[in-house]
Amino acid sequence: MTLLSTAGLTRKFAGLVAVDGVDMAVEVGSVHAVIGPNGAGKTTLFNLISGLVEPTSGSIDFNGNDISRLPVHARAGLGMARSFQNIRIFSAMTVLENVLTGLHSTITAGVGAIVLRLPGFHRAEKTAVERARMALELVGLSSKSELLAGALPYGDQRRLEIARAMAAHPRLLLLDEPAAGMNPAETSSLAALVRRIRDAGTTVLLVEHDMGFVMDISDAVTVLNFGRRIFHGPPGAIRQEPAVIEAYLGKKMAARLAARKDGQKAIAP
Ligand SMILES: Nc1ncnc2c1ncn2[C@@H]1O[C@H](COP(=O)(O)OP(=O)(O)OP(=O)(O)O)[C@@H](O)[C@H]1O
Ligand SMILES: [Mg+2]
Repeated sequence: MTLLSTAGLTRKFAGLVAVDGVDMAVEVGSVHAVIGPNGAGKTTLFNLISGLVEPTSGSIDFNGNDISRLPVHARAGLGMARSFQNIRIFSAMTVLENVLTGLHSTITAGVGAIVLRLPGFHRAEKTAVERARMALELVGLSSKSELLAGALPYGDQRRLEIARAMAAHPRLLLLDEPAAGMNPAETSSLAALVRRIRDAGTTVLLVEHDMGFVMDISDAVTVLNFGRRIFHGPPGAIRQEPAVIEAYLGKKMAARLAARKDGQKAIAP
């Protein structure tokens, strides 16, 4: 079953076609990776899917709804959450408070109840805190919930962003380069986290440059180059297409992937 699909999705910026007629389908319960060189249009594709950028043409279907023109919050309401390529956390707020900001759209008590501190507000607040704590537990940050987010090491800040996105229990989680800047130990624990998220029922769409990571955790891969889709299929099939790897990811990457096929361990680029 398809959770998300795009048809002819296109976005132009002035003279540049950042995303060019992309057809893509993300299956329910999968980890789906989008890869490609710098400037290939990966983040723009995520911005189109999450609603930060409007398509020039084409459409996006999410869980049976045409979401092509819906605002960000409406897409979030349908079960979509994301993290960003550059960390976006509130450094001066605690870890728990950061996760709570991911839940503001689900707190439905209303402004009146909040101002008057009516019982409905307390109930909503309590539920939100419980959800936030569960999300922190999922990413392994429970013991750090009262620390200031800015004081966390880098890898933990990235986990915090995932917790904030997961607190709302999305159907689809979009992660833009979650392993960027992580050391190998952090990257492998991130891979385990992504698997846990998928196994708990959230479909994951991610952009990542670390090919070892992509090969290890993806059920499907879409390759973009100059905004166009040049490959779509299981990760194993990419390894059998050295021409695609070599043309679009470079010779070094092709050699690394060929080495992996021969049973060597993953080497992060
Ligand atoms: N808001 C914008 N205005 C103008 N051009 C943009 C805008 N956003 C992206 N672009 C251009 O669109 C192209 C695709 O950019 P995008 O950020 O989607 O690439 P990417 O695949 O995510 O690259 P990276 O791997 O470096 O993150 C680039 O040429 C970029 O300069
Ligand atoms: Mg990007």
